[in-house]
Amino acid sequence: MGVTRKVGTALAAIALMSLMSLAACGGSDSGSGSGTGEVEVFTWWAEGSEKEGLDALVKVFEEQNSDLTFVNGAVAGGAGSEAKNVLASRLQTNDPPGTFQAHAGAELTDYIVQEDIEPLTDMYEEKGWNEIFPADLLERLQQDGEIYSVPSNIHRANVVWANPAVLKETGVDPTATYSSLDEWIADLEKIEKAGKIPLSVATDWTQVHLLETVLLADLGEEAYNGLWDGTTDWSSSEVTAALNDYKKLLSFTNQDRQSLDWPDATQLVIDEKAAFNVMGDWAEAAFATQGKKFGTDYTTFPVPGTDGVFDFLADSFTMPVGASNPAATEAWLETVASAEGQEAFNKAKGSIPANIEADTSDFGEYQKTAIESFKNDVIVSSLAHGAAASVSWLTDITAAISKFSADEDVAGLREGLVAAAEKHAES
Ligand code: GAL
Repeated sequence: MGVTRKVGTALAAIALMSLMSLAACGGSDSGSGSGTGEVEVFTWWAEGSEKEGLDALVKVFEEQNSDLTFVNGAVAGGAGSEAKNVLASRLQTNDPPGTFQAHAGAELTDYIVQEDIEPLTDMYEEKGWNEIFPADLLERLQQDGEIYSVPSNIHRANVVWANPAVLKETGVDPTATYSSLDEWIADLEKIEKAGKIPLSVATDWTQVHLLETVLLADLGEEAYNGLWDGTTDWSSSEVTAALNDYKKLLSFTNQDRQSLDWPDATQLVIDEKAAFNVMGDWAEAAFATQGKKFGTDYTTFPVPGTDGVFDFLADSFTMPVGASNPAATEAWLETVASAEGQEAFNKAKGSIPANIEADTSDFGEYQKTAIESFKNDVIVSSLAHGAAASVSWLTDITAAISKFSADEDVAGLREGLVAAAEKHAES
């Protein structure tokens, strides 16, 4: 009995000592799993309103986990245009962050197939997360029956942001609605003649974003979906007609587009230099943080021809294979999933909560329109934000769009897009 107690006491002492030393070394290589130390959170929410969104989430995380240290691993560049490359090389050299941002859908599948991330199916079971997220969102986080990430938000991509003062000044009715791109183009022409930028856009990825909404407007949701499962032919006359509309829209945009990122393009609308910007609803946060009033200083409407469709994307957070402090990552994922975390984050980010238990009663007016649309409209997957196509396919499409920005050759763009689809089908 005495011997047993002695062994027991010695084991307890060893366990305590190792816990203490793990807690002391803390840092990202502690491998602790003890609920102390650091978690490096890798995102592209490095600046401006996006950072404010992240900060709101971090605040809840720190309140919920006073023993853990948040380390900001953000890499600037909208839509992860820089971050995704940095992440890929870190994953390749077995230097994963504590957790990283990944889009629900095809982009997440890439990380799953490459075995970069751990399944979280047991964690979902244990924490009751299967009950707090919409079923069709959960589907986009799965592969072979396992679920792989925790969604933080839902964004809508097919939104036009408008400045009523610019519209009035250029002789366009600020309350006009447009049922097609053609109707909209007629007003863009008026705005151009009046000397304002009709439509602001920025660098490559924002042009891909614009293109996806044009494809959706012209093809309709069924044929748009078919682009991603091979049932819509990229060389069809319908796609070519959409590319011609895209060319027309691009002709109304600011000349310096290649040197801007999305906050600059949205800012042109805020500053009354441009009438419209097509952007995901992270733009809401840019207007809101500058004290602009929805309905007065700015208005929104679905990209003409896409009314009744919610062009969807969701950010989610992962447990990387080889994460150095899985307990700290788990704590981050818990905050991300929690109603409290989702309320704080989404309110600031312009998105809507993925967690159906989050209270949205004090969300902004724009966000209420997105909540209604998500509830009632047809949902399709965003191309520019990882929901519809793999990272490598998106990279090829982006290259074709970038080339088009310089040469404006529709036949060349069509060729590039067809080749990208064929390459993807073979892989
Ligand atoms: C998207 C991301 C959004 C927002 C946007 C602009 O890909 O899902 O949360 O950050 O990029 O950077």
